[in-house]
Amino acid sequence: MTSPRSTSPRSTAPASTAATFRAIPVEDLSPAEAASEHKALAQEITSHDAAYYREDAPVVSDAEYDALRQRYEAIEERFPGLRGEDSLSEKVGAAPSEKFGKVAHKVPMLSLANCFSDEEVVEFVARVKRFLNLGADDEVAFTSEPKIDGLSCSLHYENGRLTVAATRGDGSQGEDVTQNVRTIADIPEHLTGKDVPQTIDVRGEVYMAGADFEALNARQAAAEEKVFANPRNAAAGSLRQLDPSITAARPLKFFAYAWGEASSLPAETQFGVVEAFARWGFTTNPLMVVAKDAAGLIAHYRSIEAQRALLGYDIDGVVYKVNSLELQRRLGFVSRSPRWAIAHKFPAEQATTVLEDIEIQVGRTGALTPVAKLTPVTVGGVVVSSATLHNEDEIARKDVRIGDTVVVQRAGDVIPQVVRVIEDKRPAGSKPYEFPTLCPACGSHAVREVDTKSGKVDAVRRCTGGLICPAQMVERLRHFVSRNAFDIEGLGEKQVRAFYDWDLIKSPADIFTLEARNKEGLQRLENRDGWGKTSATNLFAAIAERRTVAVDRFVFALGIRHVGETNAKRLMRHYGTVEALEAGALAAEIPGEAHPKGNDAWQEMIGIDGIGDVVAEAVIEFFGEPRNREVVAALLKEVTPELMEQVAAASPVSGKTVVFTGSLEKMTRDEAKAMAERLGAKVAGSVSAKTNLVVAGPGAGSKLEKAQALGVQVITEDEWFELVGTAPAP
Ligand code: IVH
Repeated sequence: MTSPRSTSPRSTAPASTAATFRAIPVEDLSPAEAASEHKALAQEITSHDAAYYREDAPVVSDAEYDALRQRYEAIEERFPGLRGEDSLSEKVGAAPSEKFGKVAHKVPMLSLANCFSDEEVVEFVARVKRFLNLGADDEVAFTSEPKIDGLSCSLHYENGRLTVAATRGDGSQGEDVTQNVRTIADIPEHLTGKDVPQTIDVRGEVYMAGADFEALNARQAAAEEKVFANPRNAAAGSLRQLDPSITAARPLKFFAYAWGEASSLPAETQFGVVEAFARWGFTTNPLMVVAKDAAGLIAHYRSIEAQRALLGYDIDGVVYKVNSLELQRRLGFVSRSPRWAIAHKFPAEQATTVLEDIEIQVGRTGALTPVAKLTPVTVGGVVVSSATLHNEDEIARKDVRIGDTVVVQRAGDVIPQVVRVIEDKRPAGSKPYEFPTLCPACGSHAVREVDTKSGKVDAVRRCTGGLICPAQMVERLRHFVSRNAFDIEGLGEKQVRAFYDWDLIKSPADIFTLEARNKEGLQRLENRDGWGKTSATNLFAAIAERRTVAVDRFVFALGIRHVGETNAKRLMRHYGTVEALEAGALAAEIPGEAHPKGNDAWQEMIGIDGIGDVVAEAVIEFFGEPRNREVVAALLKEVTPELMEQVAAASPVSGKTVVFTGSLEKMTRDEAKAMAERLGAKVAGSVSAKTNLVVAGPGAGSKLEKAQALGVQVITEDEWFELVGTAPAP
């Protein structure tokens, strides 16, 4: 097997000992040595694959990786018995292409009712007793255990062997994550013990420990990969991977605490069954106890709450369950939760501190997010120095001002939030916060979109300087070169990022001047990390190939908000050239107080079929930003956009604006439109002074009247076919 990395730039990772420590020749290995080395190699290769494919951060060189694989294969060659179903030869490299299969839960996976106060716990215990017709003095025992903040998982065992693992999903049907679950060390492949039932679904929580989460995020950040908001998300993201080798490289853990369908049970109590889980090889939570009354449960809750910060994993409450399985059966369920259990949730942890400043962060897509900079304060064992303020409206609603004393909260271990202001402590002379209307990263206008139909204003303010904003630049360049845009081979996200960091590509036009600059540059591309003579030559050839590009791709590549491929096509079928689009956008007036209906240029743009107010506004905002126009102009010096379709210049309707109205009988509205556009006409949705021709079918109403009033030529569908000289399709 060849290395999967041979076509990629070489890793510069330092040499490890991987290639050298396996000193015994394969021919001399004993079967036992071979088996243990085979297993160790599989794990090592799996983690290298994940580091390489997913984290983009290989830790060994290509040569070392190849040596590991060769040895692995040589061992399998000599000991074919090791080629089990888990053999790497079958699965490494390519992720399984299909999405997760579905698994029906024979016994549904339910949720728990919540409560927040001691009184509610007392009431829960009383309710259970009432339901069972017991007196207040009768004793009912309950288990009490931490509520783990992860995701639940159901593991099906047949004759002690793990066969299927599924996520909770909607409770009745989950996703098949069997291969991924097999990589979790806490989950036994085989259950051992005399009392293991023939079949059983063992259930519990997959989670990630805090330290492992921090380390994973550090790796992700170093590799410029997605960082996770909290351990729960990290656990979910890691488990729900199509490629099990990625799951394998993520440190997931599991606590067993419940079960679904079972052919028999090893005990008659909740506690007893969980004890059996531990005997069979599962990890169970060491803090689980049995209490005899509400006071005992509450005492245990307090004790867990006190240990919370030291546990090393996130919990969001304590779960109480009736201990006797017989009583559980009698209690049964209410809607989606058992009557015999409840989750006593922790309150969100809060603290008071001073908001020193409001920082505006600009995301990869231009969203401006306000972040409160706080005097550091400990909230639930964690030092917090910044908190999210969500958006402009939230700041206004809470009237948060710089200098205010605020209450901050960490709920569910997510990003801290500013809850409210303590107004009594507001310093004299403070002013309401004014949200910036210019992007702090590039100075372009930052706007909030208005849906002119519903009048709804978007909560998020966005920078309009996509192509000039450093905060968005790499993302925009990546889009620019992507498959459906300029599609430049050999110029992917990684390379774009590198060129940006090397100050070689700062705007789209730079891509096309790269070769010329490279000839004069001090450090030639072919001498840079990851590049050689061939790869540089190939890249320049790929770039040169894109000096002509379809005009709709050109416009799509600009990354104008709401202008995807379809809208780019719609716009360019109408405007034809980038210059015409720009002129149209510059001439247009977005409807406002002065022009409630906009002007003609606005009407023209929204008259294009499929182009609504939101898209038109985005286009106008984009070209309204002078530096965007500079970027486009620079690009047009390098690139020649090709008209979308060869327009029959001599067609009798080319350049004319046509409106179809009434019911057409010989062609659909879409066909009519496509035909007219093919012939070089512009198709509009409404009649105006600019309309040259109206094709009216039976039932035409107001558009026909308007055309007549304006003296626009009106013809029938048949006359249309005569005019353009084609027969309708049979
Ligand atoms: S028992 C029929 N025990 O909480 C009851 N659930 O809100 C089955 N959870 O989906 C659940 N720790 O993901 C139970 N010790 C624990 C738990 C726990 C976390 C989660 C589980 C469940 C959710 C319900």
